[in-house]
Amino acid sequence: KLKSFMEIKKYSRKEFLSFLGKISLGAAITPSFLMACGNGNPPIASRELSSKNLEELKQLVLENLVASNIDDLLLTKGLEYHTILKWNDKINNDDSFGFNCDFTCFIPLDENNPKDGLLWVNHEYVDPLFVSNYDYLNDKQPRTKEQVDKEMYNVGGSIVRIREEDGKWRVVHNDSHNRRITAKTPIKLNWENSIKGKNTVIGTHSNCSGGVTPWRTFLTCEENYDQFYGETEYAHDGSTSHRKSFYGWESFYDYPPEHYGWVVEIDPKDGSAQKHVALGRFAHECCTLFQLKDERIVAYSGDDKENEHLYKFVSSKPNSLKEGTLYVADTNNGKWIPLDWEKQAVLKNTFKDQTEVLIRAREASKLLGATELNRPEDIEIDPVTGNVFVALTNNKGKEDYHGSILKIQETNGSHDSTNFRASVYMAGGEENGFSCPDNLAFDLSGNLWMTTDMSGNSMNNEDGPYMPFKNNSLFVIPRYGKDAGKVIRVASAPRDAEFTGPCFSPDGKTLFLSVQHPGEQTTDINKPTSLWPFDEDNIPKPSVVAITGDLIEKMNALNEVEKI
Ligand code: FEO
Ligand code: CA
Ligand code: CA
Ligand code: CA
Repeated sequence: KLKSFMEIKKYSRKEFLSFLGKISLGAAITPSFLMACGNGNPPIASRELSSKNLEELKQLVLENLVASNIDDLLLTKGLEYHTILKWNDKINNDDSFGFNCDFTCFIPLDENNPKDGLLWVNHEYVDPLFVSNYDYLNDKQPRTKEQVDKEMYNVGGSIVRIREEDGKWRVVHNDSHNRRITAKTPIKLNWENSIKGKNTVIGTHSNCSGGVTPWRTFLTCEENYDQFYGETEYAHDGSTSHRKSFYGWESFYDYPPEHYGWVVEIDPKDGSAQKHVALGRFAHECCTLFQLKDERIVAYSGDDKENEHLYKFVSSKPNSLKEGTLYVADTNNGKWIPLDWEKQAVLKNTFKDQTEVLIRAREASKLLGATELNRPEDIEIDPVTGNVFVALTNNKGKEDYHGSILKIQETNGSHDSTNFRASVYMAGGEENGFSCPDNLAFDLSGNLWMTTDMSGNSMNNEDGPYMPFKNNSLFVIPRYGKDAGKVIRVASAPRDAEFTGPCFSPDGKTLFLSVQHPGEQTTDINKPTSLWPFDEDNIPKPSVVAITGDLIEKMNALNEVEKI
């Protein structure tokens, strides 16, 4: 279990020094599979920083933005942005861009041209006030079917071809790849057994963060799935009941909750999709893949709910997300515990088969003594050390208000190891200048970028612990030079928003970033709390932006990069 908050602070300094010590031994970045978008980029060539690059990185001066509550996207010196896609923008003649964008991932169509490719964007959930005109704060009646249908269209994800010309990314309108995946798209289950009688289920929603596969497909993760069709709850005697959802879609669509809460793979070429049952069912934040030398896959994923768990799947066959073992972490003892019905008597006594273990992964994990964590969010693999970083956003019930970043060191650096060492890499709080870490991304030089997610109703609240941090922000933790290890605020989000889905383009010149839920605290649609991105509609719109500029290029050491 996490130590008390004061202890975390002590640990963070000690751990951090050892982290820095490792870096100074050598700056070779040698991943077999280095990715930057939620480990999101497709594989790029391994690279080594020249001494000139290193020297330049060490000399780099970063200006820390002052915390702000201004309703705008503010950037530190050396960065600029332009908007690529806003909610409701047309992406082809029939389809429009969905709401609340989160994970982004860019895959070039041609490996040799990093300026033209397919952008995947998650649409996590909707604000009914803006999307379906359902005033959930005042309406006495439940939603109509028409309102539910509008909401169902605005979640899922978008595939959009984008191209960079003259330094600006633009949508290739009506490109044949442009399409929507929504809560109504049929999706196959990648599993032998049916679930609630189906091998193909309807739709995806709650799409928070994600990942990318070595075979260049997108992974999108179903997080707070119980908000849309509720959840099946089990009593001690094994009887079940249905817990109702917040959105109430089950009033019109009788889809079982068990069809959601999975990792979903999307083929960018044709939009075909499958849900990976073997990776378990819980509030998946992300899915971060590592390909072993023999091409077996390790997939890390956290369950973003207070006191839930960290998981990894290790495949037994090359490039499989079906055959293999799902493990859950005991971080106290540094053990990955197999969620294997055949081998664990307690699972055999409780569940009827492995499918049920996977559907009820949370209960199975608790039976096996997995460690309860403080809301595991995004996971990234450090391209220099191979250490696994997990953002633990907070756990208000345990008085951890500011969260921390957990570091997992797999034994012998083997991602398929069943043992590891867990420690706190860095704690949130005033001392380090950030609170509630959520998304992480390493850039091409191994600097760590981080976004925060203080909830809308607690941000800028004078009575709460979040006041000093003001608006959610984007931070970078440089790896080199005098600022190494400092947490530097480089972008501040519009009012009520969080930044999500940071993803570097393969050439390292652009950071794609979502701006999710600006104006979320709006109660009267005529008086929104944010007007960002300040277009003619005078309402806030979740959008994807491209952040570019001298600073990104310098951080990515793009001058004289030596490719191995
Ligand atoms: Fe959708 Fe865990 O953030
Ligand atoms: Ca990430
Ligand atoms: Ca998140
Ligand atoms: Ca979050």
